[in-house]
Amino acid sequence: MSVIDHLVAGPEVRGVVADDQRLTGDDTGAMAIEEAPRPSMTRLLHPHVEQRPGGVPVTTPVYQTSTYELPRTPEAAHIASAVAPSGYYTRYGSPNNAEAEAMLAGLDGAERALLLGSGMAAVSAALLSNVRAGARVVAQTNHYTAALTLLRDVLPSFGVDVALVPQESLQDAVDDSVDVVYAETPVNPAMVLTDLAAVRSAAPRALLVVDNTFATPYNTRPLDLGADLVVQSATKYLNGHSDVTAGVVTGRAELIDRAWETARVLGPTCHPFEAWLLARGLRTFPLRMARHNASGHAVAEALAAHPRVAAVHYPGLPTHPQHDLARRQMSGFGGMLAFTVESPEAALSVLQHTTLARNAVSLGGTETLITHPASLIFAHGGTADTVDAALLRVSVGLEEPEDIIADLTQALDHR
Ligand SMILES: Cc1ncc(COP(=O)(O)O)c(C=O)c1O
Repeated sequence: MSVIDHLVAGPEVRGVVADDQRLTGDDTGAMAIEEAPRPSMTRLLHPHVEQRPGGVPVTTPVYQTSTYELPRTPEAAHIASAVAPSGYYTRYGSPNNAEAEAMLAGLDGAERALLLGSGMAAVSAALLSNVRAGARVVAQTNHYTAALTLLRDVLPSFGVDVALVPQESLQDAVDDSVDVVYAETPVNPAMVLTDLAAVRSAAPRALLVVDNTFATPYNTRPLDLGADLVVQSATKYLNGHSDVTAGVVTGRAELIDRAWETARVLGPTCHPFEAWLLARGLRTFPLRMARHNASGHAVAEALAAHPRVAAVHYPGLPTHPQHDLARRQMSGFGGMLAFTVESPEAALSVLQHTTLARNAVSLGGTETLITHPASLIFAHGGTADTVDAALLRVSVGLEEPEDIIADLTQALDHR
């Protein structure tokens, strides 16, 4: 039998050996192996490489390690007891998370940032670190679906008193007897705004938590408007390339440290490679956002001019019912928009016929995405009352705006 035959026959065929092993035949023709020295496991596990090569890397390497060798001195206990140590254990933090957190805190004008494994991890850490049984929370009737489930189902199951009120009148439903106010602006997917300054002045002492995923710090800076904590899905514009799932909480150091403690216990870590990718994406964040703003506006105007579009929901259009608020609260209007056509069937037909805009959830990436939220909202306990079945949501990407407009136009004309 040739060596090739042995290899093809698989590992149970004994006698296939490396070049440095010798085959010997006995009287019966059977093979015996004279053992060569085995490679050392110890040497494989502890290779002698210089940890600090001559030059300093221009970009931060990926610290793809789950743990760090500690000094054999009392310093180890200091590292272990620190908040978000970046070189102790990766559930606690990592140099890659620390780098992205420094960038994210800077974008929001925050004292500190906490990077986590998803936007929902950020929402959960921000809320769970600030409520206990008996606490009073006021939030909107319409929120990103998983946040709504947390507010409507999960928090009340722990004895938290949550009131959901219409978004436009959130400021009328809060006062200083409320412990936490949770707002999302513009809201996913209907593009309704919350007046953050008005909410702040209606409840000066409540903890105000704002989901700023759609606006991003490029267009709205909630901390400057009085928010205490900002949460964002970094999966979206912050990373911007549809290849990372992450989330961030920003705010005062004491609040971020408390959110970190909650996340340390619950465990929704952002892994080093994801943090590294996010830091990479963030380097072009302002460039991308300028283009998203310009293209979003252009697409919104083109849709508004199309005879088959009943309404365009884009805060930058004068027809948006809260356009004045948008001009006060936003410095740009972003790349997210929704539009309604004459019927749910017409909406599904448009969805069928786009070719550039891809039918996928998520948003804020380089590519244009379109979704029909009403078809998807029932999946995890969503309700129909907040989403119009004739509405389509578009995340306007970085393609040439005329190509995006041509694609949506031909899909609208198709019927
Ligand atoms: C406004 C908003 N907040 C939070 C999230 C949750 O983010 P993630 O999917 O990264 O957990 C999303 C996701 O789409 C969102 O749109």
